Amino acid sequence: MHLIRLFIIALVFIAVSAHAAPTDRAKKVSPPAEVYVVTSRDTFVAVSAIARNAQPVVSRAGTALVLAQLDTDGVDVLARYVHEQEGRCGGFFAFATRKEAETFLANDRSDEAITRPMAGTYTIDNQATVNPWLPQVQEANIYATISTLEAYHTRRYDTEMGKNAALWIRDSWQALANGRSDVQVELFTACSNCSIQPSVILTVQGTDLADEVVVVGAHLDSINRYGPSLRAPGADDDASGIATISEIIRIALAGNWKPRRTVQFHGYAAEEVGLYGSNAIANYYASQNVNVVGMLQLDMTNYKTTAPHDIQIITDYSNTELLAYFRQIFDTYLAPLGMVRRDVPCRYACSDYASWTAEGYPAGMVFEAGRNPTSPIDMADFPYIHTADDSLANMNDSAEHSVKFAQFGLAFIGELAKTKATGNAIFKHGFESGRQSL
Ligand code: BES
Ligand code: ZN
Repeated sequence: MHLIRLFIIALVFIAVSAHAAPTDRAKKVSPPAEVYVVTSRDTFVAVSAIARNAQPVVSRAGTALVLAQLDTDGVDVLARYVHEQEGRCGGFFAFATRKEAETFLANDRSDEAITRPMAGTYTIDNQATVNPWLPQVQEANIYATISTLEAYHTRRYDTEMGKNAALWIRDSWQALANGRSDVQVELFTACSNCSIQPSVILTVQGTDLADEVVVVGAHLDSINRYGPSLRAPGADDDASGIATISEIIRIALAGNWKPRRTVQFHGYAAEEVGLYGSNAIANYYASQNVNVVGMLQLDMTNYKTTAPHDIQIITDYSNTELLAYFRQIFDTYLAPLGMVRRDVPCRYACSDYASWTAEGYPAGMVFEAGRNPTSPIDMADFPYIHTADDSLANMNDSAEHSVKFAQFGLAFIGELAKTKATGNAIFKHGFESGRQSL
């Protein structure tokens, strides 16, 4: 049944993408004049003077929020203010109409997403798959992908370049799929607010638990906070996340891995303007009752200078048991390699995992270590975020830090999606030793 549903969803994607091509070209490339944001009250203070019709609301998870109307430019002011003045992220969901924002709030399932148990998916027992993967991660591959993506003048959602970057990601993931019949790469274009930028989805079909879906996501767009036409290389934010995912895909597929659960990799459109791409996908999956059992977001994986730790686990607006699982995975696979983790909050809706939380799914995010933050919430310390200087050149011209996140992501999918058993051990042993002697 569920297999059929997933297949139908895949067909819908293909149909929608096929339809979208001609209309995309006709679509106006300018954003709507106004936008409705749902943001936390402390972030809202930053833009209260330019907001209209502000209405206080409380999320199901108990966060004090505001629904307010802004000019489209106001969104940039909002994002710029919190990053510049407060050195933190200040997340928000954006919507084209007040009605959409109200529907989002009425359907809010964040309380459930945070507290719900992760039904029996907790074991850490797939060392046989994960251990051989970890040494295969190559910095040069991650570097090459970031380098290609940062060369686009911008990957802004409403530009041709932003669309072309998404198509390039689709093509490069397609190449990694290497013609496997159980792997599909699609564009997701059923996003009314994403302008001309599609999201990209690679699916590895599960075997005996195919209706349970494990998701690893990153956003593919970029932004320059000083203006829409300026250069926005977004090397760290978030070409690093996409490049990390590409390396995870390469390694998982190169070994002909057959997961028990279905695994999807998502490259989200239009994150930087209010989580549009991920919100459209999470909303669609909820409407189709797709059973996402765990979602890992990789947003900014490559900047590290003096921090004593390697990976930060974002604590807020995430499933509590999934975060415990992240820690177990880290302690099993990365700690023995000498890595150190810590927990930090990111505040309300700072990246795409929040779209999954809002829909009731277990989701969480891991984040780069950065400098050595003095305050426990001062974690947005990448100095070049949302500027023309977010480049590999400003990250030691290396993708070394992202290697750790590729290893984390591989351990996450290997453990949560598991591996289909192949034959009995004696036969397998005989086959492998036979092959070695060739
Ligand atoms: N990559 C950032 C989020 C981020 C920044 C996380 C710094 C941790 C530290 C993301 O792309 C972003 O800029 N988010 C916005 C909110 C979003 C809804 C537009 C932000 O945090 O201000
Ligand atoms: Zn980002």
